Amino acid sequence: MRAVDSEPASEVQDRLGRPVTDLRVSVTDRCNLRCGYCMPRELFGQDHAFLPRAELLSFEELGRLVAVFARLGVRKVRLTGGEPLLRRDLPQLVAFLRATPAIEDLALTTNGTLLPQHAASLAAAGLDRVTVSLDALDDATFKAVGDTPLPVTSVLDGIAAAQAVGLGVKVNTVVQRGANEDKLLPLAAWARDAGVVLRFIEFMDVGTTNGWDRSRVVPAAEVVGLLAGAWALEPVEPTRPGEVAERYRYLDGGGEVGVIASVTRPFCRTCVRARLSAIGELFTCLFAASGHDLRAVLRGGANDAELEAAVAAVWRGRSDRASELRSAGGLVGPRVEMSYIGG
Ligand code: GTP
Ligand code: 5AD
Ligand code: SF4
Ligand code: SF4
Repeated sequence: MRAVDSEPASEVQDRLGRPVTDLRVSVTDRCNLRCGYCMPRELFGQDHAFLPRAELLSFEELGRLVAVFARLGVRKVRLTGGEPLLRRDLPQLVAFLRATPAIEDLALTTNGTLLPQHAASLAAAGLDRVTVSLDALDDATFKAVGDTPLPVTSVLDGIAAAQAVGLGVKVNTVVQRGANEDKLLPLAAWARDAGVVLRFIEFMDVGTTNGWDRSRVVPAAEVVGLLAGAWALEPVEPTRPGEVAERYRYLDGGGEVGVIASVTRPFCRTCVRARLSAIGELFTCLFAASGHDLRAVLRGGANDAELEAAVAAVWRGRSDRASELRSAGGLVGPRVEMSYIGG
C-alpha cells in the first residue's frame, strides 16, 4: 500500500535520538531593521553583501524540500529571514506549503512592520500564525534597539492587522541588560490586554557580530521573578516535547506568558529543529559554522528519493548541542549569523 502524504515514510533520528519535526525556512537574509543583537549597522549597512536574488531557492524548490522534510517527520514549518516579508510574493509560497498535508502548523517570524500590507493575503493563503519581534513599547527604546527611524506604532499596527484577519499572534522580546530590561512589565501588561502570548528571550551569542557578553544576559529566572511580583502566575506543562518556551499562566485569566532560557537552561536535549538558509543550506544547529548544500543536490537533478536520502543522512549524523556545551565566556569559533538562518 502506498503511504499517504500525511504519514512520514521514514522518520529519522539523530545521534542523540532526536527526530526532526520542526523546519525553519529562511527566505531572505535582508531586513529593514538593524537590531544590534542580530544585524548591527556597523557591519550590516545597506550595502552589505547580501545574497544575490538569483542565488535564492525558488518557491518550487522550497516546496519540494518541505515535502521531503515532511516525509522525514516535519510537522511544523516557520518562515523566517532576515525579514521574510521582504521576499516578493511570499503569500504564493505560503499557499504552496499549505498544500503539503503533513504540515500541521505554518508560522511566520517577522518584525511586523510590513504586516499592515501583507496580513490579509498571508491569511488568505493559509498561514496559521505570526510571531512578531518587539523589544519595547516606547519609541526611544524601540528605535535604539532596532536602529531604525520607524516608530513602534509600525509594529503595533502590524500586530493589529494580523489579529484583524484571524492570524494567531505571539510576540518575542529579546531581553538585554542595560537596553530594555526596565521595559518588560509595560510589555507584559500590554500583551495581556492585547490578547497575545509574549515570550521573553535571553540574549544569545548567536553569530559573531553582536558583541554578546554574559553580563548583558538577563536570566529567565529573574524575568519570571519580576512578572510574579506584578501578577500571580502558575507554570503550564509543555504541550509537546521540544517546546523552547517555559510557559506560565496568569491566575487572573490574563492569558499566558513565557520565557526562553536558551543561555541559562539550554534545551538541546529535545531540539527537533532543522534550519534551511535562503540558498538551501541545511543547518542542524543555530550555532553551526556551516550548512549542508541541499541546493546543489536539488539542482544536480536528484529525484525526491535521492533528496530524502541526502537530508536523512545529514540528520542521522547530527550530534549538535552547542548551548549545553557553552562555557562561561560564551561560544568560540566561527558560527552562522542569525539574520542568515532566522530566529
Ligand atoms: P512556538 O511554536 O510559537 O512556541 O515557537 P517556537 O518554539 O518555534 O519559538 P520561536 O520560533 O518563536 O523562537 C523564539 C526564539 O527562541 C528564537 O528567536 C531564538 O531566540 C530561540 N530559539 C528558538 N529555537 C532555538 C534553538 O533551537 N536553539 C536556541 N539556542 N534558541 C532557539
Ligand atoms: N539572541 C536571542 N534571540 C535573537 N534573535 C535574533 N538575535 C537574537 C539573539 N542574539 C531572535 C529574536 C528575534 C528573532 C527574529 O530572532 O527572537 O525576534
Ligand atoms: Fe531584522 Fe529580526 Fe534581525 Fe531585528 S532580529 S535585524 S528585525 S531579522
Ligand atoms: Fe538546538 Fe543547537 Fe539550539 Fe541546542 S543550540 S537547542 S542543538 S539549535
